[in-house]
Amino acid sequence: MNAIKHAHSGLRWVVLALLLLAIANAYNGWQKRQPYTPSDKKKHLFALIFCHIQMLIGFVAYFLNLGGKVQFSGATMGNDLIRFFTMEHSIMMILAIVVITVGFSKAKKIIETPRRFRMIFSTYLIGLLLILAGIPWPFRALGAGWF
Ligand code: HEM
Repeated sequence: MNAIKHAHSGLRWVVLALLLLAIANAYNGWQKRQPYTPSDKKKHLFALIFCHIQMLIGFVAYFLNLGGKVQFSGATMGNDLIRFFTMEHSIMMILAIVVITVGFSKAKKIIETPRRFRMIFSTYLIGLLLILAGIPWPFRALGAGWF
């Protein structure tokens, strides 16, 4: 479990960095009305792929549940830490990644350049905010660390 947990924990930084780069790139392209090039698409796709990898590792952590943080009994739902990982964290992250995925595939169908960048910018930004809100940051006292 340790390997999965550490991979899942450390990969958050890669996901956050790639999302920030993709959002900055999309904002720039949108504001400057630049043409949407294959290099732009690669940046947006790369961020999407790492979100999906992180989600898959999350599913493994969830279903193996070796850390014992996923429980469904009524009593354990009263425990902040158990409820966070069983419900809030997973649902929020899946939602974020759905928004990002829909954004990417909708953008693919848009030919007009500024609108294509704007679609990536707005959906990836919503996704990023949901992810930031769903991470068990150390200051939230959920027993998780920075890495
Ligand atoms: C972008 C998406 C995600 C990010 C950035 C993320 C980030 C994290 C972080 C930072 C931790 C704490 C690790 C530690 O203890 O230091 C964690 C734990 C966990 N995550 Fe995620 N996560 C994401 C998606 C998901 C998804 C989609 C699921 C399941 C459906 C999931 C299931 C879990 C579980 C079960 C744990 C607790 C592991 C344990 O300690 O037993 N995560 N996640």
